[in-house]
Amino acid sequence: MSVVSVLDAVPDPMSAPPVRWGILGAGAIAGSFAEAVRTSTAGSVAAVGSRSAARAAAFAERHAPGARAHGSYEDLVADPDVEVVYVATPHSHHRDHALLAVRAGRHALVEKAFTRNEAEAVEVLEAARAAGVFVMEAMKTRHLPHVAAIRTMVARGEIGDVVSVSGSREAAFAHDPASRLFDPGLAGGALLDVGVYPLAFALDLLGVPDEVAATGFLTDTGVDAQSTVTLRYGTRAVATATSSLLTRTPASVTIGGTSGFVHVPEHAYGPTGFTVEWHDGGRKEFDGFAPDGKQYEAAEVARCVAAGDHESTRMPWQETLDLLRVLDAARARLGVVYPGE
Ligand SMILES: NC(=O)c1ccc[n+]([C@@H]2O[C@H](COP(=O)([O-])OP(=O)(O)OC[C@H]3O[C@@H](n4cnc5c(N)ncnc54)[C@H](OP(=O)(O)O)[C@@H]3O)[C@@H](O)[C@H]2O)c1
Repeated sequence: MSVVSVLDAVPDPMSAPPVRWGILGAGAIAGSFAEAVRTSTAGSVAAVGSRSAARAAAFAERHAPGARAHGSYEDLVADPDVEVVYVATPHSHHRDHALLAVRAGRHALVEKAFTRNEAEAVEVLEAARAAGVFVMEAMKTRHLPHVAAIRTMVARGEIGDVVSVSGSREAAFAHDPASRLFDPGLAGGALLDVGVYPLAFALDLLGVPDEVAATGFLTDTGVDAQSTVTLRYGTRAVATATSSLLTRTPASVTIGGTSGFVHVPEHAYGPTGFTVEWHDGGRKEFDGFAPDGKQYEAAEVARCVAAGDHESTRMPWQETLDLLRVLDAARARLGVVYPGE
């Protein structure tokens, strides 16, 4: 069977205007973001900020040669060369670091989960509105070719009415009570780290649910280790999102329609392929593989900033708030409370 490429379902990231990025937090994902910007967009990394000058310098040397290295986040956001700040710190610090960027008049791309909860997101978005800057949650999946292609097919009714979306994102992490994944003080837990992906997928296709249910269990540190969240959309559809810190499974998504289904068999939240199968026996295969994937969200930011937009139509502020409201409800069901909440 022939495989149809869907890479042209979104614009080529290289075609977006150049943007000068400032990286806030010299951690793991910041490294791959900097590489994606450098190798797969027309933008550049102007500077990196770390709590340690030595870590900033080492990061620049490894991931962003030529970028200025700052030994504090304050110095990073004050750097006049930086147009957009990429916030890549633990979830516990996203509010403060996003506010730091926005109040310095910088545009900001803030890693998922955008903040610990909806109330913190409201603070950031109100500050962004007051400062007149662009802000977007780094939900990289939204901007990928296969997701754009699936959305178009679903919108055209190609699999009938969508009645189910089931997604999973389970990643096995070594138990380390002090790590950002297990420490409630760093807003750890599977939901905010990985469960956010299948939930965002469901909200993208089905919108805001009428009811949120969740079952699962916590780690001995008090964050969610493993859970399934169920979303009910009246009598129209049900979605499930499974997340885990304990096991690794293929990260798949299946979208059930009244006349067929879409199946993304693995790595559903990064650039990949999928199949469509119809109840009458038809089947099509699509390929959307590309390296990394963060170049697509970086390009979306670049296009929005160049156009003077304050939010992206693909990941608008309201969707970030809707997603956090669902996460808040799921955490409440599971009994996960972060310090100070
Ligand atoms: N888009 C994706 O594919 C993806 C994948 C994984 C994670 N993420 C998201 O990216 C963010 C960062 O995740 P990561 O895996 O890159 O984390 P990480 O490797 O632990 O890096 C986080 C960085 O935050 C800074 N930081 C500031 N305050 C901190 C504190 N109190 N404790 C620890 N670190 C602190 C540190 O940088 P300095 O020491 O340099 O200041 C640290 O290197 C999270 O929001 C996560 O959900 C996204």
